[in-house]
Amino acid sequence: MHVNRRGMALVAALVSALACAPANEPSSANDHLPGAPGIGDTDFPKDGNGGYDVTHYAVAIDYTPASKQLVGVTTITAGATHGLSSFNLDLSGFTVRSVTVNDAPATFSRQGDELTVRPARPIDNHATFTVKVSYAGVPKPAGDGSNLGTYGFMPTPDGAFVAAEPNGAKTWFPANDHPADKAPFDFSITVPAGVTALANGEMVGQPTTAGGRTTYRWRERHPMVTYLATATLGKFELRQGSTPGGIPNLAAADPRFTTSIDRLYTTSATITDHWATVFGPYPFGSTGGVVDDYAAGYALESQTKPLYGGFHPDETIIAHELAHQWFGNSVSIKRWRDLWLNEGFATYAEWLWAEHKGTKTAEATFKEFHRRRAGDPIWKYPPGRARPNDLFNQAVYSRGAMTLHALRRAVGDQTFFALLKRWAADHRYGHVTTDQFIGLAEQMSGKELSALFDAWLFQPRRPQ
Ligand code: ARG
Ligand code: ZN
Repeated sequence: MHVNRRGMALVAALVSALACAPANEPSSANDHLPGAPGIGDTDFPKDGNGGYDVTHYAVAIDYTPASKQLVGVTTITAGATHGLSSFNLDLSGFTVRSVTVNDAPATFSRQGDELTVRPARPIDNHATFTVKVSYAGVPKPAGDGSNLGTYGFMPTPDGAFVAAEPNGAKTWFPANDHPADKAPFDFSITVPAGVTALANGEMVGQPTTAGGRTTYRWRERHPMVTYLATATLGKFELRQGSTPGGIPNLAAADPRFTTSIDRLYTTSATITDHWATVFGPYPFGSTGGVVDDYAAGYALESQTKPLYGGFHPDETIIAHELAHQWFGNSVSIKRWRDLWLNEGFATYAEWLWAEHKGTKTAEATFKEFHRRRAGDPIWKYPPGRARPNDLFNQAVYSRGAMTLHALRRAVGDQTFFALLKRWAADHRYGHVTTDQFIGLAEQMSGKELSALFDAWLFQPRRPQ
């Protein structure tokens, strides 16, 4: 592998040397510009950053619940998308101790949640570089007092509950904190012995204990959106095995919720296997769920390990969070305004689960919602354009799901379910927009569907 890559690099260097030789252009300082402070989502102008694409995160944290001190070293590997004189990372709080780029000390400055890094040497377009940030402090969660609720790294008496949608990854590691940039992750989490650390993907080796502290290593080898990263810490009872379909399965429950663990384990297994028959092969290496005692007031579809914040999850919410593994986590949005592609799909999956169980048809659920009076707030909020100040509005969920049901009615079951599978397959590990979904629906059905999507997604009134 290594030899191959060196060989490739040598060929690339040779080719570019040859290409440059005749022109004999001196490389100009103007070729290197500051990376933009935002990735280009106008609804969240400061989220993410421009000028590079992350290809890997290595997040190493040491956390002490008693003092809430977090000491972190995050190493990001990225590829430049233009020549960079400086670039930004998103980081909220903490004292930054040092930053290196390609192992050379870099200068840095901070403004709000923007960490600007100026490498000793500018980075050329297309170059791969690593940036290593050492930082420490008491994490401060995001969103307090906003209608998003509290999110990010949330300290609990025995550890932490880490659920970061929409932009709370920066509350615990420096990141390109926007769903448009996904990358695999390695985690190394050190905690006092007796505390369990649960992160995404699968555990690497066995935890090691030295000097009263235990280090857990986890790896999510598939691309992951930053808000889905978790390092949920505390006392947990675990149940491990695999689903009947053969997918590794891990359920974890805080001591206050251990009565849920068997149900969480078996329901997560059954539903993961079932969704694989409906949506296509499971996109990740493991499944499961974590119930913590932190009353977040919501759940999060953290990749491979949905988090349930302070309640006993029922089948409906488990069906929702596991459907997100396909819709949201594997197939991800490029911009927040398209959030219905996550939440509408996961909510429709709840309806499909009830239909599968024989408790209620999706048609009956649809009708129940559709009967709501014209003045109901769900009709005022067009779910195809999620609002930055009210991202998780009920309309994005329920009216988003109704949109899918209206589509199913229009194209028939056979085309509709083929479309769901095709959508998940064509964009596996990738990014999508609403227009792409409409395009695929029209292509697969052979029908003109703009009026349907316009009425359900974009009009501030109750569709007929
Ligand atoms: N995606 C989550 C779900 O639908 C909701 C996350 C809500 N986040 C928040 N900060 N309120 O299950
Ligand atoms: Zn959801």
